[in-house]
Amino acid sequence: MKEFQEMRASTDLLAGSPLTEPERQFFFIDKCHEIIEEQTRLLGRPLQAAVINFGCQMNARDSEKLRGILMKIGYEITDDESADFVLYNTCTVRDNADQRVYGRLGVQKSMKREHPEKIVGLCGCMMQEQSVIEKIRKSYHFVDIIFGTHNVYKLAELLYAYLTSRSMIIDIWKDTDFSVETLPVDRKYSFKSGVNIMYGCNNFCTYCIVPYVRGRERSREPEEILEECCRLAREGVTEVMLLGQNVNSYGKKLEHSMTFAQLLQEVEKIDGIRRIRFMTSHPKDLSQELIDVMAASKKICHHLHLPLQSGSSRLLKEMNRRYDQERYLDVVRRIREAIPDIALTTDIIVGFPGETEEDFQETMKVVEKVRYSSAFTFIYSPRTGTPAAAMEQVPEELTKERFNRLLKLVQDIAAEECKKMEGQVQEILVETTSNQPDMVSGRLSNNMMVHIPGDESMFGTYVKVRLDEAKGFYYIGSLVD
Ligand code: 5AD
Ligand code: SF4
Repeated sequence: MKEFQEMRASTDLLAGSPLTEPERQFFFIDKCHEIIEEQTRLLGRPLQAAVINFGCQMNARDSEKLRGILMKIGYEITDDESADFVLYNTCTVRDNADQRVYGRLGVQKSMKREHPEKIVGLCGCMMQEQSVIEKIRKSYHFVDIIFGTHNVYKLAELLYAYLTSRSMIIDIWKDTDFSVETLPVDRKYSFKSGVNIMYGCNNFCTYCIVPYVRGRERSREPEEILEECCRLAREGVTEVMLLGQNVNSYGKKLEHSMTFAQLLQEVEKIDGIRRIRFMTSHPKDLSQELIDVMAASKKICHHLHLPLQSGSSRLLKEMNRRYDQERYLDVVRRIREAIPDIALTTDIIVGFPGETEEDFQETMKVVEKVRYSSAFTFIYSPRTGTPAAAMEQVPEELTKERFNRLLKLVQDIAAEECKKMEGQVQEILVETTSNQPDMVSGRLSNNMMVHIPGDESMFGTYVKVRLDEAKGFYYIGSLVD
């Protein structure tokens, strides 16, 4: 992939602005606040902002940070895309994610024609691609603020630059080893939270664009992570999800190196934290130490997301995954031995370049052996600049037909696995209202969803439920006292 020209917005526009972080961002939050307060007064109504999230848990966490900053600036947070400021936090892992963003921009264009004062912003993974920036510059003039994945914390500074210049602000960094973690965050849930433990990825799987748009792997210092977890616990959070593209390689490059398993043991010690989850594990780095720590833990949830991508050892090599079918199945065997009731989930790509029926059958074989509780299945999407995009592609019809066969197998097995727990009594953390009236939804330790009769007063509580009816990938349950 071509080196991306670094662009930095010129925001040294204000004498007296601090040069150190986070002071600098708090300064710009105050400056924006003055302007937004004035606009609110003139309009006679609060100004609204929406951060629309595409993509993974890492993006979702970034969106919470963006909303936190906007709230502090004085915006009322909404999900409504007719808001005064709409910011799309984009994903580019597959082409359909890109297309959805362009679709939303089409809608914004007509809204902005009627409300020219409206602000439209773009950030996240897609913005780290030079071709995207060129396209937006050329065809989407109405976009006001553009930044990438490395400078999410700078939102207030960039917004201030826009509010005082009313010209397009672009600020994209090629990579960074700097992050600011102490800015306000607007968490979606008061009782559970994601915690970034590392950023970026060094694996360069040949189909994947993430290492190019999220940069090199960097681990946060354990003290910082533990301090954040303690603070969250004090604020009432009982479940943390430790986030990274490849959590199993956490800490290898820290000055005082620390393994992911050791980090988990430290998080386990924090009073108030009852559940620990993490995402995502790479099979090549999953250590016996981690399996042992999980087995001994009272807090680490009995769920492991272990992306397979393909069951064919030949294709895994082409994908640069650095494990083969045998090694993957061995990891699975060892996990199941240590934690018999663990639920395994996965990601699988169908139609990777050169995939033959035999390769595909190997994937089906692994799915049958592992018996995943659920699996995200994806049709291979060529990403410009990645090695696989230049390889010989599989015809679309073949891929679609294989995809349907895989989906059916995955769903059938997931339903059988779900059924096995019917009638059991288990604990859930109640999270949201269900889409069925007078029902709420919560998750089991193994991450499966359970819907039970209840109301909002139960959010954030742990309750015992009977799993009355398995519904394929969720349960209808009832409270047990
Ligand atoms: N095409 C299809 N799926 C992809 N993924 C990553 N890159 C691609 C691509 N180019 C999938 C992988 C990964 C998940 C987050 O997205 O399965 O684990
Ligand atoms: Fe992409 Fe592979 Fe890194 Fe996952 S491990 S983000 S699939 S390059």
